[in-house]
Amino acid sequence: MSVLPTQLGPLKLESPVALAPMAGYTDSPMRRIARRYGAGLVFSEMLSAEGTLRRNRKTLELARFTQEERPIVLQYFVVSPIVAAKVAKILEELEPDGLDLNFGCPVRKIVQNSGGAALLKDIPLLSKIVEASVNATRLPVSAKIRCGWDEHSQNAVEVARAAAEGGASWVTVHARTRSEFRAGSAHWEWIGEVKQKVAIPVIGNGDVKTAEDAIALQKQTGCDAVMVGRSAIGNPFIFREANALFSGSGPLPLPTPRERFQAVNQQMAWMMDLFGEEHAVRRFRKHAIGYLRDLPHSAVIRNRVIRLPNACDVLSILEEYFFSLPDSSASCGSTLGESASSDRDKLTETAQGL
Ligand SMILES: Cc1cc2nc3c(=O)[nH]c(=O)nc-3n(C[C@H](O)[C@H](O)[C@H](O)COP(=O)(O)O)c2cc1C
Repeated sequence: MSVLPTQLGPLKLESPVALAPMAGYTDSPMRRIARRYGAGLVFSEMLSAEGTLRRNRKTLELARFTQEERPIVLQYFVVSPIVAAKVAKILEELEPDGLDLNFGCPVRKIVQNSGGAALLKDIPLLSKIVEASVNATRLPVSAKIRCGWDEHSQNAVEVARAAAEGGASWVTVHARTRSEFRAGSAHWEWIGEVKQKVAIPVIGNGDVKTAEDAIALQKQTGCDAVMVGRSAIGNPFIFREANALFSGSGPLPLPTPRERFQAVNQQMAWMMDLFGEEHAVRRFRKHAIGYLRDLPHSAVIRNRVIRLPNACDVLSILEEYFFSLPDSSASCGSTLGESASSDRDKLTETAQGL
């Protein structure tokens, strides 16, 4: 099977595997690492429309990207068509490759203000927001949705159709309802429904934990691309592994200790450039947890790394640890050692406490 390259509206992607938008994670260094290891498309974390409108320094910092990240899509959440149009114009000035509207955020603060997933309950307004954004920019505009608000209102097909009618170039379906947040298993069958019934390209998202899952999701649903979120944290290798399977060149060996260290070192260096050492080291902790996930006896290393204040010490401990692993053990994933919990939910929960 080969689905390379992939077309999403006007965007031609080298790979059908995208990095998901993840607030607090998908900063420019993580996006660069993902692209370097083969992600076909990356998204910024969601930007506040209000912050963008006020040209708030912090919001615009989140929107900054480097050429190496292209193709990059900037995502925002917004509740009004007029504001959506203004935000689209402002973000267009930054020259990303596309804009994405967030209709999936389940967080109470956002939905109480009628944003994110709340718009799944107001399809006419959602369609107007898409239309206003599309009319305001020459960039492709996409929508990221969920299956519905809850199990009694699973309306992914109607929502995706409304987004298509509003002019969206593609739709990303996170195959859970708002009330499921990120728990439980994703309902991939909804991605297949949308793909069958709606004319625009579809990115499938939810529970792609391995390269094999990416293939399975594409096969099961016929979606045009797949999106990886939590499983790409500290694991940019998933992109090249999935690409190898998609292109038919077979499974790749898992990353060697040297490759793991190179990725860690590079990501930290980019983070230090962007944030300065103190902030970079604090922010890097949650990525370090990802890099150590499922490796033998890594809990003790993780506990040391999340307490260290300077980059040099963090990198030396990780370097020493990775190079202490025999190639084969580092490649065995959760089959060896203590299996530092392959539970991705725990990963983001622990990291959010950092
Ligand atoms: C920490 C975190 C932050 C997230 N932030 C965003 C966001 O800013 N915008 C968005 O559309 N989705 C966001 N998501 C949802 C992901 O994009 C994705 O839809 C979800 O994690 C399911 O994919 P996965 O199972 O591959 O992780 C976030 C998810 C996590 C774990």
